[in-house]
Amino acid sequence: MQRFTIIGGRPLVGRVVASGAKNAALPILAASILASEPITLSRVPRLTDVTTMLRLLESLGARVEKGTRTFSGQSATCADNRETENVRVPFSITIDTHSLTSTAPAERFVQRMRASFCVLGPLLARHGRASVPLPGGCRIGPRPVDLHLRGLAALGADIRVVDGLVIARAARLRGARLSLVGPHGPTVTGTVNVLCAATLARGTTIIQGAAIEPEIADLGRFLNTLGARIDGLGTETLEVRGVEQLGGGAHELIADRIEAATLLAAGLITAGRVTVERVDPAHLTAVLDVFTQMGADVDVGTDRVTIWRRGRLHPINVTARPYPGVPTDMQAQLIALASLADGTSHIADAVFCERFRHVPQLRRLGAHIEKIEKGTGTISGQSATPAVNRRTEIVPVPFASGVTIRGVAQLHGARVVASDLRASAALVLAALAAGGTTHVERLHHLDRGYEGLEQKLRSLGATICRETSRDLLVAAGRLN
Ligand code: EPZ
Repeated sequence: MQRFTIIGGRPLVGRVVASGAKNAALPILAASILASEPITLSRVPRLTDVTTMLRLLESLGARVEKGTRTFSGQSATCADNRETENVRVPFSITIDTHSLTSTAPAERFVQRMRASFCVLGPLLARHGRASVPLPGGCRIGPRPVDLHLRGLAALGADIRVVDGLVIARAARLRGARLSLVGPHGPTVTGTVNVLCAATLARGTTIIQGAAIEPEIADLGRFLNTLGARIDGLGTETLEVRGVEQLGGGAHELIADRIEAATLLAAGLITAGRVTVERVDPAHLTAVLDVFTQMGADVDVGTDRVTIWRRGRLHPINVTARPYPGVPTDMQAQLIALASLADGTSHIADAVFCERFRHVPQLRRLGAHIEKIEKGTGTISGQSATPAVNRRTEIVPVPFASGVTIRGVAQLHGARVVASDLRASAALVLAALAAGGTTHVERLHHLDRGYEGLEQKLRSLGATICRETSRDLLVAAGRLN
């Protein structure tokens, strides 16, 4: 078990460089299965989710070569001996999937990380078969994959779900017109699976209601580099003219807009002045609008954003929605910010209606967050796998759930426990602003999606360090 010890109350000041995007890296690594020659990916963030995807690909028979770079950062040991250490970060990765030995990833990978399910479309398209476990439950609420399966079935795949395993077969997929919109809007990884599969289908596929997240456009650019013929990237209608084969190629990932927004929020919540570099400001528009509503001053350059504020934060009223809306992956961090506003805020989530496990932990730091209101409605739809049953059913669908936050002047330190990736980021933000010392536990959640966060925050002046169970035993005098 690892935890952060954070002494809050210091304004963060300085410049940091954004890492490559986790939610571009994972789909693109899965899509490497489509390539008949090696691919090289650069600006790959050092995250446990990336490691999981690489291990999954290796378990299918892929050859993975990691190029590394090092950068010097102040290690965050709590022993106050601030030594400079060289941190080795995979910078580029070369993957060769031309001779896979399996099309059935092990359950442990999909249980550990839902994005593993993105190998289904590429395996089916490239090898005509795939057996992929259904992703298990998730801490941020129900996450079905019915749209993924429906999309692949529309391309002519025979799909069966047997004992939690998706078994897909198709001699050759065929182009089709299909929609990927569900009760909560488009699906990001559903678009990934179907877009990848369509690249090798016979004929043309029109995907309507495709997700338009920047990570989808980055995947599309990668696939076009390999020889795919995808048009309409960045729009809700993608046209994919299938080809016989995809080659190899090199691609640099886009910046992680959620990491960048989290680092900017760290500057804002501590009343500091932070610049995030090597990021596309256009990918942050909705979040920067919210920061401006909260009273932030924002200065945008070609590939950087600087943020600061003069007065107290102002309350907001926002609902997280699919891109280009306010990202659900920033919902928790915005609740942390609103906890210090000079008034009452309402923050809702229309994508993941049960994504509020950070709320009780933020309350431990002194935030006044009232109960979660659930909004509901009904919708009719085809059930999961058309190959199995085609009945239409009326299903109650939670639309958006939200919280009311009465801002306080000051938060205070406490021991808090992270429940998922973005919840951990929100707790770190609140701790940076809180008076006194906070311990944030269960850092394995954070390490899934933030590369070297404590080093980046320390370079901005934060007092933050990571303790391992060993450190804690030594500190308790129970280990030499
Ligand atoms: C992606 O998840 C991201 N993950 C998530 O980021 C992000 O929160 C989410 O998109 C929304 O932006 C990756 O890119 C690896 P969805 P995904 O399918 O694709 C419903 C993070 O913190 N739905 O777009 O799994 C679903 O229940 C992670 O980095 C169906 O009903 O999300 C949800 O309510 C967390 N049927 C909504 O659609 C389906 O078949 C959007 O989900 C698929 C989804």
